[in-house]
Amino acid sequence: MMEEVNEFDFENRIVSNEYDAGQDAEVENNLRPKTLDQYIGQEKAKSNLSIYIESAKRRGEALDHVLLYGPPGLGKTTLAGIIANELSVNIRTTSGPAIEKPGDLAAILTGLSDGDVLFIDEIHRLSRAVEEILYPAMEDYALDIILGKGPSARSIRLTIPRFTLIGATTRAGQLTTPLRDRFGVLLKLELYTPEELATIVKRSASILEIDITEQGALAIASRSRGTPRIANRLLKRVRDFALVKGDGNVTSEIADMALESLEIDELGLDNIDRRMLEAIIKFYGGGPVGLETLAATIGEEAITIEDVYEPYLMQIGFLSRTPRGRQATPRAYEHLGIPYGAFSSPGAKGIAGQTKMDLD
Ligand code: ADE
Repeated sequence: MMEEVNEFDFENRIVSNEYDAGQDAEVENNLRPKTLDQYIGQEKAKSNLSIYIESAKRRGEALDHVLLYGPPGLGKTTLAGIIANELSVNIRTTSGPAIEKPGDLAAILTGLSDGDVLFIDEIHRLSRAVEEILYPAMEDYALDIILGKGPSARSIRLTIPRFTLIGATTRAGQLTTPLRDRFGVLLKLELYTPEELATIVKRSASILEIDITEQGALAIASRSRGTPRIANRLLKRVRDFALVKGDGNVTSEIADMALESLEIDELGLDNIDRRMLEAIIKFYGGGPVGLETLAATIGEEAITIEDVYEPYLMQIGFLSRTPRGRQATPRAYEHLGIPYGAFSSPGAKGIAGQTKMDLD
């Protein structure tokens, strides 16, 4: 039973929200909105940002440092580009793991111009030594350079341009407190509604010159797990079916047929999601089951389960996080066609997976 799980190709799942430099780069680059007006959804983040940007422009100063956080594929990089564009400044893009040594970051910082944006993706993966360089840079626009070693070592302070750091992370909780505290603006990106995604799909279709009906856009949107990156990827695959099996027009019928072939169900769940829920239900009586145990059972990293699979399953009410682990909800049972309470042994576990003692 369990071996079946590993038959799935986790890296290549079409509903993955991981960025794929091969298939996503080209698409994302020309589909990316360039202004806040073109950016669909995230209304709260957008309206606050537009005020901060306008204020920074009127003051003629650099925008405060911004931390963008939320699940992958929601447009953090896109938003960073928009912020730089709206401020009419340059953007320098890098990522936490790419900055290996303090000297790498020092070189980047000294190469910036006044007001520029430095975008660091996956900022939670910066090493401690690199992070230490960032503190005075963010706070005082300064680099502290240590000259010499031992008792005769001295430190000199170099001034760097007044820049805006935009950090992006899927896990704000993993940032160290001193780093988090140095961001003046914290923006949480939320999963998109199907209506917002349908608007994004129609916009992308128009840029890619794909004919699409309203219902076709909605069919793709409602199976995109709240994530524009997935919606844009599905749009391209459905377009292929429309060209080969239809007349090129993306209708809901074509979308349904394509998504069925891709084994993506009407809620956007793929085999891996279904296997994960089935594992919780069949092996752990519906839960709660600890994250690490679940990860080992389905052969995935705990961090991937948390970042990639869980946000959507929780948003649609299929999974709950309890202090003692993950739990499948009655809705998940219903969706999978499993009677609620099946696989739980009533003596040891109640229907919700809790023993009597746990409840006492
Ligand atoms: N493409 C990806 N994300 C988008 C968004 N939020 N708005 C418009 N187009 C997008």
